[in-house]
Amino acid sequence: MAIDKKHYTGAESEGGITSSYATDDGVKLKVPYSFMGSIYDEAERNAALAAMAQDSLTMGPKTQEFQKKFAAKHGVKYAYACTNCTTGMHVITQLFDIRPGDEVIVTPNTFVATSLVILKEGGIPVFADIDPKTFNIDPVDVERKITAKTKAIYVVHYAGLMVDMDPIMEIAKKHGLKVLEDCAHATGSSYKGRMAGSIGDAGAFSFHSLKNITTCGEGGMITTNNDEYSNGIQNLRCMSNQPQSWNDQLADINNPEWHFGKIVCKKTDPIEYWLPAHFDVIPWNGHWGSNYRMNEIQAAVGCAQLDKLDMLVAKRREIAHKISAGLQDVKGVETPYEPADRYHSFHLYTLCVNEKELGGSRDEFLRVLYQEEGVQGILHYQPTFHFTGLKRMGYDPDQCPLASEFFYKRELNLPMHPRLTEQNIEDMINGVRNAAAKIRKRHNKA
Ligand SMILES: Cc1ncc(COP(=O)(O)O)c(C=O)c1O
Repeated sequence: MAIDKKHYTGAESEGGITSSYATDDGVKLKVPYSFMGSIYDEAERNAALAAMAQDSLTMGPKTQEFQKKFAAKHGVKYAYACTNCTTGMHVITQLFDIRPGDEVIVTPNTFVATSLVILKEGGIPVFADIDPKTFNIDPVDVERKITAKTKAIYVVHYAGLMVDMDPIMEIAKKHGLKVLEDCAHATGSSYKGRMAGSIGDAGAFSFHSLKNITTCGEGGMITTNNDEYSNGIQNLRCMSNQPQSWNDQLADINNPEWHFGKIVCKKTDPIEYWLPAHFDVIPWNGHWGSNYRMNEIQAAVGCAQLDKLDMLVAKRREIAHKISAGLQDVKGVETPYEPADRYHSFHLYTLCVNEKELGGSRDEFLRVLYQEEGVQGILHYQPTFHFTGLKRMGYDPDQCPLASEFFYKRELNLPMHPRLTEQNIEDMINGVRNAAAKIRKRHNKA
């Protein structure tokens, strides 16, 4: 179908698909797709105002508190706040020492950021196909794609349902590969009792507006249990700042002097606070850092959001289970799969259209659902290698047949956030039921 540009209003949104699906086509929506994935109230407002009164608005007590709370909640030794999940994954890509020509096995069923960070460092994303039930990367295909150049595996816990991590970690161990968990959808998710971001070598979370918790629209967190990575994250997140270098000089008792540039001091001299040597700058393993720090207002709001995380995820799950129960007997649409060993946080509620049973395509279904039933579904995602930039690099658009067949052609996401009301849930169930019935009738399906 041709895109009717007059109906898409990007006017108030520089973010395009990252901040709005506003339309002016006259459709009266019962359940619009919301770009606020959480619940804000007095707790967030008070936290933000209190942080705004602080002397320093970045890297202060609230960032420390947020990191500590996040690490405790996700069962990891270290958590470091950063500007977003993309920059978090960029830091991890540098820690994994991905260099030009190195291959990284990655899922195609993700936001472009997961591959972008590999491409930024000159690495080569190699796409493994997905499991048609979970829509997550398939460990069997991961192992098939390993070559002598493979350095890491990047998995995404799509929709908040965690990847089957045990086989992934076994493969990584067997072949000496690093594992990054893209946890953008998975704050609050777990696998066999282990939280997202605690199983791979490092994890990166997103607190974008749409996510399970949000730090004023943007934000991220890097998690790891690795002591060396902990130092590396601090370096790469903050301009290759290396406080340890100066401390090491001070600690060297055999050296009577310490040096910073042209300044030479005797160890017996008092340490003046204004000396520039309170930090040093050294690239981490040859990689230069950047400024990927989170500010104190975001961190304060993040603390308030973490206090609500269990409630927010419980609400998402309750809503998802109600929708699924209401759609069990509908021919032509399939509800999300939920294996017993995983705690699904339902960041997304993904419905699949079975074209054979329905008689019509996913796009026809979406159109009827939207125009006639007032329920705004959207698509998450097209395979990464379909983007022009990757096609120009020579990626075959048909290289992951299961992702195309069982996901890309069939999936749509219903509105999902914890503020949905009983009325919204009922409207969605009725909308899907009616849309399916109308299409089946149009195509003479029983
Ligand atoms: C799976 C996935 N990975 C990474 C990202 C990037 O997150 P951020 O916007 O925080 O950089 C997103 C954001 O939508 C995502 O959905």
